[in-house]
Amino acid sequence: MSIAIMTSGGDCAGMNPAIKYFVEHILQKNLTPYLIYDGLEGLIDNKIKKATLNDVNPIIHLGGTVIGSSRSKRFFEYEYRKKAYENLQKLGIDKVIVLGGDGSFRAMDVFYRDFGIKFIGIPATIDNDIYGTEYCLGVDTALNIIRSSIDSIRDTASSFRRAFVVETMGRESGYLALISAITSGAEICVIPEMPYDLETKKTEIKKDVDEGKRYVLAVVAEGTQKTQEIYDFFKDDMKLDTRVTTLGHIQRGGNPTVFDRLMASNFIKHSIDRIFQDDAHGEVIIYKKSSFDFLTIDYIASHTYKISDELIGLYKLDYCQKC
Ligand code: F6P
Repeated sequence: MSIAIMTSGGDCAGMNPAIKYFVEHILQKNLTPYLIYDGLEGLIDNKIKKATLNDVNPIIHLGGTVIGSSRSKRFFEYEYRKKAYENLQKLGIDKVIVLGGDGSFRAMDVFYRDFGIKFIGIPATIDNDIYGTEYCLGVDTALNIIRSSIDSIRDTASSFRRAFVVETMGRESGYLALISAITSGAEICVIPEMPYDLETKKTEIKKDVDEGKRYVLAVVAEGTQKTQEIYDFFKDDMKLDTRVTTLGHIQRGGNPTVFDRLMASNFIKHSIDRIFQDDAHGEVIIYKKSSFDFLTIDYIASHTYKISDELIGLYKLDYCQKC
């Protein structure tokens, strides 16, 4: 029986190196690797092709996913899952590696229960919000894009003595915003997971500006919907010349960093080793405390991702007495 790889949901840097490593590993095992194009939608529409080394040789440095992705509503209906199963069956594929988020993993879990197609989910989302893993593929690249953008913003902000509100992606997760605020020295960080107190900030920032600080920076997670509030605070309460930059989808693209390429290689190697074991079924690979392990979808789905208190404590030193 054969094995395929698919990318599903929001794309991220690191997916292409993962696809390349997957094809190389499977060919080394003298098996046939398949690529499923356009995620779950492509699986339904039979966009499945045998892969050769030529398909994946020029992609290690590319962001996004060369095999495409999708968010599929049809896959939630049994008749389309059946169609997807028949497509795989015709090609003798009984194992799938899927890179994506927990929505994609849940869909694959239902598929496994319906038809017994084994899968390993590789966490791949810039939101870094999958329970059980400390790292999702693509996060390092997204963080470096944010870092580089904020470094540029700081240049122009300090030239004009301006305040900037930078909005990051992440859905309900404040991970990107928090790490970016810590590593960019932002005066204000607004994330869903942490309270903030603008009155205290007002006093601190005013003192800094009075003493000569030439720029003020706030990093706001999109999930808080507080970008306008922080803009108004800088402009109206603090009387600062203020601009807003919404970073948007540039955070999802870009050449994968060395760390994301290495993590792609590790995730693929461990996932392939696992999926060929007899007792493998539908699982997600996780990275925790510098090692790799596997969790069931049920376990992941019954827990909620929470940003660690230690990380919040790095930004807000008095946040957690235990940290
Ligand atoms: O889940 C990844 C993500 O980039 C989120 O951070 C963001 O809110 C969302 O996807 C954007 O989705 P779309 O590409 O459909 O606009």
